[in-house]
Formats: sequence, structure tokens, C-alpha cells
Amino acid sequence: MSGQPSIDDLLETISSLSQTIMEMQHDANIGREIRSVASVVIHDFGYLLSAIEGSAELLMDQEPNGSYRYNTAKGILNATKGLKEMRDCLMLALRGRPKRYLEICSITDLFDEDEMIYERVKLHGCYLAKEYAEDLYQVKVEKEHIRNAYENMVINAVQSMVPGGTVTVRVYNHDGKLDNLDSCKFVRIEIEDEGKGIDQEILPRIFEPFFSAKDEYGTGLGLTIVYQAVKDHNGKIDVESELGKGTKFTIYLPAYLG
Ligand SMILES: Nc1ncnc2c1ncn2[C@@H]1O[C@H](COP(=O)(O)OP(=O)(O)OP(=O)(O)O)[C@@H](O)[C@H]1O
Ligand SMILES: [Mg+2]
Repeated sequence: MSGQPSIDDLLETISSLSQTIMEMQHDANIGREIRSVASVVIHDFGYLLSAIEGSAELLMDQEPNGSYRYNTAKGILNATKGLKEMRDCLMLALRGRPKRYLEICSITDLFDEDEMIYERVKLHGCYLAKEYAEDLYQVKVEKEHIRNAYENMVINAVQSMVPGGTVTVRVYNHDGKLDNLDSCKFVRIEIEDEGKGIDQEILPRIFEPFFSAKDEYGTGLGLTIVYQAVKDHNGKIDVESELGKGTKFTIYLPAYLG
């Protein structure tokens, strides 16, 4: 993400998308072109939505439950949920395409470039700590999907913590076979929080579509998207959690070795 998109940027991109559709109706590459513009729109749309969502959550945290301001913020939050769901459905639809947009990159650069996530963590009064090993393998990924998975996990982590908590992102190399995956070299990503943890009873269900234990505003699609993104990249995801102590997600993505 380079810089923060404004509503005007978004409208301009949507208008460019319509233009592209008009111009390319008879072109065999139409699908690729439309998807390319659509992923930019979806990303920027998600970015703005997250900013609205984060501000509404912050207001709810600060106002007494049931007050006028609390209920207004809750209304905004509920509306963003519907929009998020729409964005997630579009992303799932895009994911069905052949993998044309794989890019070789450093996973830590991808994380560090994500300004939105810093803002979200800060809004909740939490901290984001990073521990990166030296000489990390590169990966070949659909950046948008991996960034989105990262954002979903960090947001979950922050939502599970009280202000002052830290979410730690660690990245290492991992050499060796994992289950029946083809690769034997991976980048291992850990996202660990100091939040309330996940009850062992619901742990097996957290990746299910629409499963949410957040009464007020969870759509239950965040981890489904994370799981799908990891699977699409021939990786693996594990979770460990202890009630009252926190949760750690570990993701392995195959290294790109050239
Ligand atoms: N880091 C975490 N700490 C505690 N519980 C978590 C964490 N991550 C996920 N969960 C649990 O897993 C459930 C499913 O997570 P998921 O991200 O799919 O949905 P959601 O956060 O409820 O809604 P959405 O992400 O769509 O807004 C959550 O409702 C929550 O109960
Ligand atoms: Mg979530």
C-alpha cells in the first residue's frame, strides 16, 4: 500500500474500472484487466472501511454502553460489517482465478509497508512488536491476499486485548518437511497476542466461514480468508491458545528459491 487512498482516489479507480470494461469488451484479456483494477478497488475500499471501523470501535470503547454516542458508533460499526462482507465475497471470487499475480518479495517488507495496521493497533492503545530473523528467504505470493491475511490476524489479536497489550510478529526461516507439503524450505510467521485466548471448545471452528464468537460485530470471515490464502500458497497454518494468556497463529509459506 503506497499512501492512504482518499474517497476521490477510490471514485477515480471505480470510474477507470468502468472505462476499462467499456474499452475491452471484445478483448480476450478482459478478465485479467478487470481483475487487476478490481483488486486495487477492493484493497482501497478495505483500507477506508478499516479506518471507519477502527474509529467506531474506539468510540464504543470510550463511551458508556447504551449511550447515544455508543449506539451511534455501534450503528456505524454494523454498517461497516455489511460492507466488509461484500468486500470479502469479492475477494473470494477473485481468488478463484489462476495465479497470475504472484510476486517475489520479502514478507517483512510487505508487513512493514502496511500503514493501516499500525493505525489500527495504535487506535486500540496497543503495541505492535516485530522480531525478524536475518537473511530471510523470499516468497512468491499474491501480495494482496497475504497482506489481507496479515491484517485479519493482527486485527483479531488487537480485538482480543485490552489497551496496553502487545501483538508480536516474528518471522524466521524454517528448513525441513511439513506434513505432505512439497517444499522443504519455508518462511515461518508467528502472530502472538496477550489477549483473552480462545476456548478449546470453539478452537476447532474458528476457520469456518461465518463462525464468530464476537457477539456484537464479527462476521466470522476473517480467519476463513486467512486459511484460504495460506492454502492457495501451499502453506500451513497452526494455532495455539490459552484462555486468559493469549493466542499464537503460526503460518508457513514456501520459500522462493529462484
Ligand atoms: N487472536 C485471537 N484471540 C482470541 N480469539 C480469536 C483470535 N483470533 C480469532 N479469534 C476467535 O475466532 C473467531 C473467528 O475469527 P474471524 O476473524 O474469522 O471472525 P471475527 O473476527 O469474529 O469476525 P470478522 O473478522 O469477520 O470481523 C473470532 O470470533 C474469535 O472468537
Ligand atoms: Mg476477525
